[in-house]
Amino acid sequence: MAERTLSIIKPDGVEKGVIGKIVDRFESNGLKIAAMKMVHLSRKEAEGFYYVHRERPFFASLVDFMVSGPVVLMVLEGNNAIAKNRELMGATNPANADKGTIRKDFATDIERNTVHGSDSPESAAFEISHFFSATEIVN
Ligand code: RTP
Ligand code: MG
Repeated sequence: MAERTLSIIKPDGVEKGVIGKIVDRFESNGLKIAAMKMVHLSRKEAEGFYYVHRERPFFASLVDFMVSGPVVLMVLEGNNAIAKNRELMGATNPANADKGTIRKDFATDIERNTVHGSDSPESAAFEISHFFSATEIVN
């Protein structure tokens, strides 16, 4: 089933200079870039994006990290895009991530873990609309 998901290359990924390598993983694995932009998130945008985590002990630190530098926002499209992207990303904590995953290869730690990916159709719909208008996404 063709599906869309939101991907973010987090500030540590941009800082490490691996934007191209990460995009290549998506394009080489059947995910098309349907939208893409580089932005420096405001605190309000980052807090709104991670609203589901607002009660978590790591929330403040996570928001500080996400506004610490530019990020790359992408809409990825393809068969089972949500699960496929999560598979390519690897586990949240890079110490537990499988060999060959983006987080295993590039992440620093559980917070500076290089990429984000939507975890369900509901979160994908919310997250895509948080950052992109319909006219910014190609068909
Ligand atoms: P993401 O939402 O960014 O794709 O990551 P995820 O689903 O694998 O992990 P999630 O549980 O949704 O956590 C969101 C992000 O919060 C940071 N985090 N820090 N210090 C900690 O214990 C901790 N746990 C999570 C990570 O940046 C994680 O990706
Ligand atoms: Mg998550």
